[in-house]
Amino acid sequence: MDLKERLDKILTGSGVASRSEAKKLIRDGRVMVDGKPVQSPEEKIDRENSEVRFDGELIDISRFRYFIMNKPAGVLSVTEDRKQQTVLDLLSVRDRNLGLFPVGRLDKDTEGLLLLTNDGDFSHKIISPSSAISKVYYAEVDGIPNDDDVKAFSEGLMLGDGTRCLPARLELKEDCSCLVTVFEGKYHQVKRMLASRGKPVRVLKRLSVGGLILPEDLKSGEYRELDNSELCKIFNGN
Ligand code: URA
Repeated sequence: MDLKERLDKILTGSGVASRSEAKKLIRDGRVMVDGKPVQSPEEKIDRENSEVRFDGELIDISRFRYFIMNKPAGVLSVTEDRKQQTVLDLLSVRDRNLGLFPVGRLDKDTEGLLLLTNDGDFSHKIISPSSAISKVYYAEVDGIPNDDDVKAFSEGLMLGDGTRCLPARLELKEDCSCLVTVFEGKYHQVKRMLASRGKPVRVLKRLSVGGLILPEDLKSGEYRELDNSELCKIFNGN
């Protein structure tokens, strides 16, 4: 099997340019592969073992990319919307071309840790309840959560519509706030769980996914690429 791929396709997939622009950049001699200019867009290269530079800048040509964002409230976690701002609108022009999509959804008014990737298998693994990857949320609610709520969460709540939730953790904090840890991702799950206990959510922020914690220095609306050790943390340390 030929694992090599066309240079113009690789350049496009790495967000540098559209396919037609990439062809032109290559023909203009602005792209180097392993230190040599390659002027044919059809040239096939081995993604795993080649170094590609555009105007001297080293380009990340990895097939799959993984990012973390501190999603602000008020932004949709979808790839496009005709009227409202989406998390992809917060990306640089180059990163917008990587084919990224959010891993699962945070509601428009929910903030915090959102993963973005172009790797469908990875996304599935994070979302699937069978992986049992924890997601921790900070919530502020109307009312004061109590020990009865903690017990009900740990036993697996029944939501208003009869949906049964997996056992979850509720940790009481000051007054009207709490931490909720879930191992699945049903629609509006945390809000519906707390509402079912008569504690409607006012503020919701995701703090971690698996062992990956939202970095303190990642400001609201900011994002960055994850390194390998951070990727591993997601799957280690529930
Ligand atoms: N649970 C919710 O209710 N909303 C979110 O955005 C995430 C989890």
